Amino acid sequence: SFNLKLVSSGRVIAVPKDVTALQALLDAGVDVPYSCENGVCGTCLTRVLEGKPEHHDQYLTSEEQACNDQFTPCCSRSKSPILVVDL
Ligand code: FES
Repeated sequence: SFNLKLVSSGRVIAVPKDVTALQALLDAGVDVPYSCENGVCGTCLTRVLEGKPEHHDQYLTSEEQACNDQFTPCCSRSKSPILVVDL
């Protein structure tokens, strides 16, 4: 599990092991656009300001993934305990 910190509000949202980051955000009432929920479409792409995402999408190129400045919350997770996101 890991935490998402929303830069706009400072809110911290826990993402349990068996829940996607997208689902945790939606459950917390955060409006994140999404479509495929499978790492393909890029609709949920979210900017990452701090922390290291664990990428599981097929949308970003490996170069883009290596930048660690965006991630797809529908399927990707975090390598660091906290991911600060532009939400
Ligand atoms: Fe399609 Fe996340 S909803 S990549």
